[in-house]
Amino acid sequence: MKCNEIITFTSMKTRILLCLIIAATWACSSTSESEAEPETEDKKSEMVMAEVSELAALMKEIHADAKDWRTALLNGETVTADTDIYTRLTESEPTNKNVEGPAFNGMSQHYQSKLSAFLAASDIELAKKEYNNLVSACVQCHQNYCHGPIPTIEKLYLPTAQK
Ligand code: HEC
Repeated sequence: MKCNEIITFTSMKTRILLCLIIAATWACSSTSESEAEPETEDKKSEMVMAEVSELAALMKEIHADAKDWRTALLNGETVTADTDIYTRLTESEPTNKNVEGPAFNGMSQHYQSKLSAFLAASDIELAKKEYNNLVSACVQCHQNYCHGPIPTIEKLYLPTAQK
């Protein structure tokens, strides 16, 4: 009997832990599982489509860009793209009003400077280094405003240039 009790207790703990993790990630919508389960994600995005803020939509866009850039760099190609991101970051309507303000603008400016440096990189080795600095700028802002997607963002780092 005692053994059974222990088993029940352990699975309860696991369930509680799972609930906590789900609650924590839910608070600031994360796309980390979207690649693993495309079907579920499709249904989920249909349901929440109307609630996606302008800023969240912009985030999806810059996340997709960064993925493309990563692939290009791994293929030895440098990247050209639109350099202006500051205005878009600061003028897009966020889900949560707390996101607006001087601190957010500062983070946006920091991200802008990393993007400009990355796009100005003349050779591939420098571009790879600047690209990883750009990903760090994503993570830094997220540490302040939106923890959920950080594990997904960290997958964008180029392992080769990290050494
Ligand atoms: C200046 C701050 C800032 C920077 C820089 C930033 N983010 Fe975000 N990001 C946010 C905020 C705030 C949200 C929440 C947006 C909302 O819900 O309105 C967010 C949301 C997201 C989301 C979730 C979008 C969704 O589906 O709801 C992803 C993914 C994401 N960011 C990836 C990135 C990536 C990748 C980068 C760098 C290429 C980046 N972010 C740079 C602040 C930032």
